[in-house]
Amino acid sequence: MIAPLIIDVDPHAEPDGLVRLLRRRYDNDSNAFLAVAPGRVNIIGEHTDYNGFPVLPFAIDREIKIAFVPSDDDTVELTSMDDYGLRMFQVREGRSPYAQGDWGNYVKAAVRGFLEKGIIDARRARGFRGICAGSIPVSAGLSSSSALVVAAGLAFLAANGVEMDSLDCAGILARSERFAGIEGGGMDQAVSLMGKQDMALKIDFFPLRIQHVPLLEKHVFVVCNSLVRASKTASARMSYNRRVVECRLAALLLRAALVGRTGVRIDASRLGDFNPEKTGLSWEDLERMADEVMYGSPLPVSVIANRVGISVEDIVEEYCALSDGTAFVQPGEGYEVWKRFVHVVTEARRVEETVNALTRGDVTAVGALMNLSHESCRDNYGISCDELEALTGIALESGAIGSRLTGAGFGGCTVNLVESSILSSFIGDVKTKYYEDYLGVILDPERRDDVLFPCRASDGARIYRYR
Ligand code: GLA
Repeated sequence: MIAPLIIDVDPHAEPDGLVRLLRRRYDNDSNAFLAVAPGRVNIIGEHTDYNGFPVLPFAIDREIKIAFVPSDDDTVELTSMDDYGLRMFQVREGRSPYAQGDWGNYVKAAVRGFLEKGIIDARRARGFRGICAGSIPVSAGLSSSSALVVAAGLAFLAANGVEMDSLDCAGILARSERFAGIEGGGMDQAVSLMGKQDMALKIDFFPLRIQHVPLLEKHVFVVCNSLVRASKTASARMSYNRRVVECRLAALLLRAALVGRTGVRIDASRLGDFNPEKTGLSWEDLERMADEVMYGSPLPVSVIANRVGISVEDIVEEYCALSDGTAFVQPGEGYEVWKRFVHVVTEARRVEETVNALTRGDVTAVGALMNLSHESCRDNYGISCDELEALTGIALESGAIGSRLTGAGFGGCTVNLVESSILSSFIGDVKTKYYEDYLGVILDPERRDDVLFPCRASDGARIYRYR
């Protein structure tokens, strides 16, 4: 696939509302573009991507749209129609970030990614001017921020007349989004770019690969927002980055144990690198080895340093480093390496099993795997919260076959596998039991579709050209 995928719109067709607004604002009758990038829901495979293990999301029918015209110079000017204001910067000077948490950083991140890779030459780069709006609930674990990065990235490519391979584009945007603060893996950008209607995507990493997996007939995935905001820029950011560091340290310990035990020295910096083909050991053997070397977890860096024979300074410099140039500060109780290891390796197996279960249409197995995943996210990865527990419990009571948190966790949404025939009673029950009885909120009927909704698996990002 090529990014951006540009679709010429029939000049007689009614333009999208955002394009009409753009034309009024910029007094422009021709040559407008509309970049559309969907959010995603992850069925299973949570926090596996940055560990080099697969994930299984699909792109949803909610998106970020940017209507734009290419600039004559290197100015990027974007106004949010959702009341987040105007952001304007010069491509050549746009590398220093706005304040932490500012939405403009996602736009800068996209631009920066292509410049740093030399895909677009900074000296000749053109910016774009436009307006944006979104239908993806924000801070809800549905990747509204990555959708913005993807839409802005495609707008920047189109403004410069550059096309590239979608897999390469996804890799660049995943790396550059880290500029905005979290050490994310590559799931969100890849699925937003390459989603496919009616299909889930099994995504493998290092190198990035995708496989389409059919979804279940007569069943739907319903998203329920816990209404606990899981902002990637607030405390959830540190909690997320902590887990990335913990997994790196778990891999470091495992590598040292492997050398000590077998003399086998492998090039492994992520947990996903310890596959049986590389190590010559089964996962069960590795788990035993991990149990021994991670004994006493949570572990302070000084103990880890001792066990692996590297200095504390070197560990901090190499394994605790974040993309913004700072180093993660060790939590008081140390790093929880063992539980993170257990989650990641068992979750990786659940992804493979879910792909098989979906392929053979085994609804019960898919539901059971989702429930196991949620338990591991809670007990081993520590990314659930009271509200997510209440919400998954109520969903199962209300007839969901599987229910789990989706995305980074710490709040946000759950994804629920529901038989289509009970969809309306499921929605009605969750509305009463979770929102009204548990949270004590009456959902505004206008807003209900942003909080509790079935999702259709949709196509990935594209650009419409209006001449
Ligand atoms: C966020 C990140 C992803 C992934 C998920 C957890 O959405 O952006 O890369 O790590 O969390 O699965």
